[in-house]
Amino acid sequence: MKRRVRIGLIGTGGIGKVNARVLDADPRGEIVALCDILPERMDEFERELGRPMRKYEDFHDLVKDRRVDAVFVGTPNQVHVPASLAAVRAGRHVMCTKPLSDSLAPAIELVREAEAAGTVNMMSLSTRFSPECLYLKRQVNEGFFGEFYYARARSVRRAGIPDWNPGFIEAGGGAFRDMGVHVLDAAWWLMGMPRPVRAAGVAGARFGPHGEGYTDFRRPPESYWRRYGSDDYAGGFIRFENGIGLQVESFWASHMPGDLQVELFGSEGGATLHPVRLYTTDHGLPRDVTVPIPRSVPNGWTNIASHYLDCIVDKTPCMAPLRHGLMVQAMLEAVLESGRTGQEVLLDDFLPPGM
Ligand SMILES: NC(=O)c1ccc[n+]([C@@H]2O[C@H](COP(=O)([O-])OP(=O)(O)OC[C@H]3O[C@@H](n4cnc5c(N)ncnc54)[C@H](O)[C@@H]3O)[C@@H](O)[C@H]2O)c1
Repeated sequence: MKRRVRIGLIGTGGIGKVNARVLDADPRGEIVALCDILPERMDEFERELGRPMRKYEDFHDLVKDRRVDAVFVGTPNQVHVPASLAAVRAGRHVMCTKPLSDSLAPAIELVREAEAAGTVNMMSLSTRFSPECLYLKRQVNEGFFGEFYYARARSVRRAGIPDWNPGFIEAGGGAFRDMGVHVLDAAWWLMGMPRPVRAAGVAGARFGPHGEGYTDFRRPPESYWRRYGSDDYAGGFIRFENGIGLQVESFWASHMPGDLQVELFGSEGGATLHPVRLYTTDHGLPRDVTVPIPRSVPNGWTNIASHYLDCIVDKTPCMAPLRHGLMVQAMLEAVLESGRTGQEVLLDDFLPPGM
């Protein structure tokens, strides 16, 4: 048997550990090195893994370690591109959590270099890889929907502004990049990744800069919420080149009930993601089918880890390359830009030709 893929974890916080645990549980992968600017986090995770790790406080040092084949980047948004780019330049395979970036230009540079490097580059997208989304994709491939013409995608929270890392609320963070990315990516991917042409939207921050709307109605210290520099809501409309429309919303806080949903409108059928429900017309009558997803089915995290290792070990074509993350980032940034300027945005002004 081939040796296991040796993986370095950059960012040993919440999402880094979630991804690292499943990568380590897969017989083809093992976590061998950790990187965090907070050494105590590395020590704690090392204890959990139960064997000695090589530990670095600077990701440039981790990626230079020749005993690391691949990395997972689980830092705040603002560090995704610098850490991923360093890994690509050092010849490592890279998987990055969502969103790809905190802005568009550095993400374009990363995708160019990652593709030129020829190593595996992948987004960790827990919604796209969820059993619900994968099931709907199979229905897409089997023609259930006919032709897509519209979708709605939203993440609405009552009080869900992250209060554990200022990276979330500073410039480059925000609700739209944080949660809009999930529902936008899922809708776009399920619809066959049509090319976006125009975007319009609104965005702002109604709760966060006043110390309100934080997770579970907790009030963080004023020194935290004074750093607010991003949106806590954004909503927009994206038009694609084949005439498809997508309405997308993300609210970290609102006076509305929580909701996480993707709704797909096709010429032959429609569907929702949460729960998975298929709608069609059968002999002139409505037919609705709910598809319960059993707990025994591998979850999104397991699917992500398994696919990353498939791509590295078996050279399986990647179903979520960084390029997909870049297109989603372009749509996110276009809606946010429209919110800032009040003008509709042309996606061609955002993305260089060929991207
Ligand atoms: N469903 C998902 O895919 C999902 C869910 C939650 C979070 N995320 C993403 O994961 C990222 C982190 O979120 P989190 O909740 O895990 O935050 P977190 O604060 O728990 O973890 C981030 C870790 O990165 C470390 N870090 C910061 N700068 C660093 C640097 N320069 N080098 C190395 N380490 C550094 C921090 O010290 C911290 O330990 C965010 O971008 C978020 O969007 C994805």
